[in-house]
Amino acid sequence: MSDPACWVFNVYQSASKPPASPPHPRHLLRLLLGFLAMAAPPQPVPAPAAVRPDVFRLGFIGPGNLAESIARGVAASGVLPATAIRTAPHRRPERAEAFSSIGAHILETNAQVVDDSDVIVISVKPQIVRQVLVELKPLLSEEKLLVSIAAGIKMEDLQGWSGHRRVIRVMPNTPSAVGQAASVMCLGEMATENDENRVRSLFSAIGKVWTAEEKYFDAVTGLSGSGPAYIFLAIEAMADGGVAAGLPRDLALGLASQTVLGAATMVNQTGKHPGQLKDMVTSPAGTTITGIQELEKGAFRGTLINAVVAATKRCRELSQS
Ligand SMILES: NC(=O)c1ccc[n+]([C@@H]2O[C@H](COP(=O)([O-])OP(=O)(O)OC[C@H]3O[C@@H](n4cnc5c(N)ncnc54)[C@H](OP(=O)(O)O)[C@@H]3O)[C@@H](O)[C@H]2O)c1
Repeated sequence: MSDPACWVFNVYQSASKPPASPPHPRHLLRLLLGFLAMAAPPQPVPAPAAVRPDVFRLGFIGPGNLAESIARGVAASGVLPATAIRTAPHRRPERAEAFSSIGAHILETNAQVVDDSDVIVISVKPQIVRQVLVELKPLLSEEKLLVSIAAGIKMEDLQGWSGHRRVIRVMPNTPSAVGQAASVMCLGEMATENDENRVRSLFSAIGKVWTAEEKYFDAVTGLSGSGPAYIFLAIEAMADGGVAAGLPRDLALGLASQTVLGAATMVNQTGKHPGQLKDMVTSPAGTTITGIQELEKGAFRGTLINAVVAATKRCRELSQS
């Protein structure tokens, strides 16, 4: 009996039980009016306070390939509106056009970009970083966050050249171009938790992000920085194997790259150890274990381990020279 008419009837019943005589229509009308007065018109329910997106102005010093990938990812994923992004062209006007096509603001000079940004990404080649930071040093007020993606340039140098302590260093990798970067960041002395969250949101727009101490950055470069090239080689070699076994080239290449993508996705999505996934697909005396036996004869795993260690060592040498 949730119908109001029934409710009125029930109220009447309980208030005047037993009725001495049938209710006079005037009483019924009064009850009904009373009920209507009690049932106040529904008030608009205030919408739950929406979490305000953290909109900040993002400037790129160096409108190159990686900067464009980040800008595109950030705008496409809605982390920031495109209008919150700015850069200035250097020599090639087509770089500015690429940013314009995203909807970013094109300013005239690096100084204007710094002046008009809260977060400034240094995205020039490593050998230019010093010169650029020394030039921008007088403009870097305390509230600005400096982010460097330049490979091999250490936090100590970034802070020293810029005279700024609110710095985050990030090491992304080339799959940033397709939104599948593996990026690692480390925080400078004065970078805040909010700064870390902002940079995480930017690089999450182009892949996955970890925070780690800077002491790991050489090894990060040897693994995820150089790693895509190791896998390109593996894809090419697997495709060559397919061709050697009689497959047409296109089919072999498609199968090889999709197999690498599928295997990596399984590791990421199942959370299972790759050794466990390997065991699940190797049946006794089957084809896969026969193939693995050949890989082990060629020291497949040892070679990959050595490759990462050698690239790490080389990165260390280069950053010391
Ligand atoms: N690409 C990657 O996947 C990747 C991965 C990890 C780290 N990184 C790092 O990311 C940085 C950028 O790499 P990238 O591949 O994007 O290089 P890039 O395409 O060559 O971009 C560099 C940009 O800097 C501009 N530039 C040069 N001198 C400048 C100056 N004085 N002021 C302002 N802009 C200037 C260049 O403009 P003009 O061409 O017009 O001179 C160009 O647009 C590098 O430090 C690299 O180590 C890249």
